[in-house]
Amino acid sequence: MKQIILIGFMGSGKSTIGARLAEELNLDLKELDALIEKKQNLPITEIFDTRGEAFFRELEHNVLVESLLCDAVIATGGGIIIHNENFSLLKHTNNVIYLRGTIETLYERIKRDQINQRPLADSASFELLNERLISRRKRYEQAADLIIEIDNKSIEEITNEILKYLGEVIE
Ligand code: S3P
Repeated sequence: MKQIILIGFMGSGKSTIGARLAEELNLDLKELDALIEKKQNLPITEIFDTRGEAFFRELEHNVLVESLLCDAVIATGGGIIIHNENFSLLKHTNNVIYLRGTIETLYERIKRDQINQRPLADSASFELLNERLISRRKRYEQAADLIIEIDNKSIEEITNEILKYLGEVIE
């Protein structure tokens, strides 16, 4: 099975880099947030507003499990590792790549992003996001087979680093 799973905090570039990798590797891209929105026919913000975070996390768990049955590049949402079952699934899956950035970089990118709506970040302060990152950091690191530092790197540089790694591990 050929799967590459991107994990990391909001703003780390999982979807953008996932799309590049999928193109390069000729694989489908499974963007978990987009799959949830499609299934529910509702934007993520509305799912959070009307049904709450716990409901969203269950949907997220289901689409992860489904996606892990296919050959694909999987771009997860930043909170994927909160769910204990997801965390343990990812720990036991190969090619899990953590896109790691400092809070300064991530905060900048989240605030600059005019396209994605993020219920847990859009009105959050630097301090709050930093706390959230700190509370998740260990899990991202423990679930990952490869950690890529994203600060001050272009999409191309990051994609190439990942492709180089995959060239060594994928037959
Ligand atoms: C979330 C991250 C979002 C999305 C939801 C919750 C989080 O995805 O799944 O808003 O808890 O970090 P991105 O990481 O793609 O922004």
